[in-house]
Amino acid sequence: MIKALNGLSCQIKAGEIVALTGPSGSGKTTLLSIMGLIDTPTQGEVWLLGKPLKELKPFDKFRAIHIGFIFQLHHLMPHINTLGNVEIPMFSLERSHKKRRQKAYELLEAVGLDHKAHIYPTNLSGGERQRVAVARAFANSPRIILADEPTGNLDSETGELVLELILNQCRVRGNTVVIATHNSEIADRSDRTIRLKNGRIGTLGN
Ligand SMILES: Nc1ncnc2c1ncn2[C@@H]1O[C@H](COP(=O)(O)OP(=O)(O)O)[C@@H](O)[C@H]1O
Ligand SMILES: [Mg+2]
Repeated sequence: MIKALNGLSCQIKAGEIVALTGPSGSGKTTLLSIMGLIDTPTQGEVWLLGKPLKELKPFDKFRAIHIGFIFQLHHLMPHINTLGNVEIPMFSLERSHKKRRQKAYELLEAVGLDHKAHIYPTNLSGGERQRVAVARAFANSPRIILADEPTGNLDSETGELVLELILNQCRVRGNTVVIATHNSEIADRSDRTIRLKNGRIGTLGN
């Protein structure tokens, strides 16, 4: 049996921006999945927003309200325009059509893509698609943002811009953020780096 994480303990403060680094297979995605209630650990405890796991049920509702995800691939719906894609997470909460639209426009503005609101994902560049995915992650004004190698699929220049955008948005909104990344420069711009090695914490930096 593979232990993806083993003897790992970490605490992230509200509003902290944490870079999660470590070689491929070190457990970054697994840790983000546990933090995001996508996966539950076979042993150990998870607390989010001051509550233990059992008080966070139903997980899908908790996730929809409190957690925004950004993945390596944008996962935009191809047959829905940019605006509609940003609106998608809002359907899980009770919000009027008008409010959804308004919020989606605001978020597209924040990522500099309001002029492409009616464009379909296939007609956007890779960087633009990922910026839409960033806007979508903020749709329900979550407290927590989890990003799994969000720039891994972009060229370095575009990746840099997307990373900057995520960090700026998170700082402005006061989010708690964990970003798994191979980009070593992010360490300088985050509050702290958690380095994983074989499912354990290597050095706890800064
Ligand atoms: N669904 C899975 N089934 C079995 N093993 C997995 C699965 N997902 C990840 N692993 C294993 O868990 C370990 C950690 O993987 P992962 O969290 O994806 O690391 P990282 O994101 O740092 O590359 C690796 O050994 C990987 O092979
Ligand atoms: Mg991974």
